Amino acid sequence: MKLKIAVLAGDGIGPEVTQQATQILRAVAELGGHDFTFVPGLIGGTAITETGSPLPTATLDSALECDAVLLGAVGDNKFNALPPDKRPEAGLLQIRQALGGFANLRPSIAYAALSESSPLRPEVTKDVDILFVRELLGGLYFGAPRWWNKETNEAINTMRYTRDEVVRVARVAFELAAKRRRKVTSVDKANVLEVSQLWRATVTEVAKDYPSVTLEHQLVDSMAMHIMNIPRNFDVVLTENLFGDILSDEAGVITGSLGMLPSATIGGAVNLYEPVHGSAPDIAGTGKANPLGAILTAAMILRHSANLEQDAKAVEQAVHKILDAGYRTADIARGQQPGQTPVSTQEMGKLVHQALAESIDRRQAMHAV
Ligand code: IPM
Ligand code: MN
Repeated sequence: MKLKIAVLAGDGIGPEVTQQATQILRAVAELGGHDFTFVPGLIGGTAITETGSPLPTATLDSALECDAVLLGAVGDNKFNALPPDKRPEAGLLQIRQALGGFANLRPSIAYAALSESSPLRPEVTKDVDILFVRELLGGLYFGAPRWWNKETNEAINTMRYTRDEVVRVARVAFELAAKRRRKVTSVDKANVLEVSQLWRATVTEVAKDYPSVTLEHQLVDSMAMHIMNIPRNFDVVLTENLFGDILSDEAGVITGSLGMLPSATIGGAVNLYEPVHGSAPDIAGTGKANPLGAILTAAMILRHSANLEQDAKAVEQAVHKILDAGYRTADIARGQQPGQTPVSTQEMGKLVHQALAESIDRRQAMHAV
């Protein structure tokens, strides 16, 4: 298997977590005899500082020539005063648009070992396994017109969707649900917004092609509550860009930390992979960052871009194993609980690497018999 991966580490904790993720990918390549190459590129605040642009042309050109893009995080308080189109985040939105992936998959899983890290009671989070399918190229993020008139003190953003944009992302959600627990929950605000009425009508129509999958609709406000109350009720959650941004962060509470959440964006020319957590500039360089979101994102590369499902599972199981053994970065540590070992970003990466190497070795030994 040959795979060329653009690595855009970005800002804050981006470089330290992507480093751990690429180590894992290197290990998978070495153990399985695959040829993975990594092409570094600049994005976000570091790109602004070095080139004046949050997404230099060189980065975009080389990303478009790769099979997958692994992105760390963008965002730096230094640039807070800049208008939205000049900030580090603009680089992220531009690359999302240029790569063309419209379906952003954000799994939110409750790890038994972390049940005490969540403010939700263990019986609420037990066995929760939700897959958010967030539409990533439409809605308020990209709709025009958009402006802020400082003279008149008026500002506008536009929530816009076309039927086709809803159809294509809905299909991804139904296809994935058909392979899981066969339920799609579509989230909108159809009691107020025309865009949501179009969304709901379109999703209902697409559902007819998937008779084995149950469709339910939820309004976004009550959905925010249901996710905390009975997260076990949800399998695939399909929603538009901004609602998905908000609800997927909320769902981080189920896992115990935003630092645990991976994501994959599919459907475009090149898939884009990014952990859900941001750049966390306050802890950058301190060794406190949790690399598991980035490592689980690497597993999604193996699954969705390399078709190495067994290896993707092996990485996920290695993460489970290390958590079960009690190793914790600061975000998932719980007070002075016995049986926990605090570890740094690097140590966590190394532990997962070791667990992974052992499991792949075992698999290969079994095949050899
Ligand atoms: C995310 C982030 C981004 C988003 C920001 C950094 C532009 O919050 O990936 O969830 O809003 O999509
Ligand atoms: Mn977000």
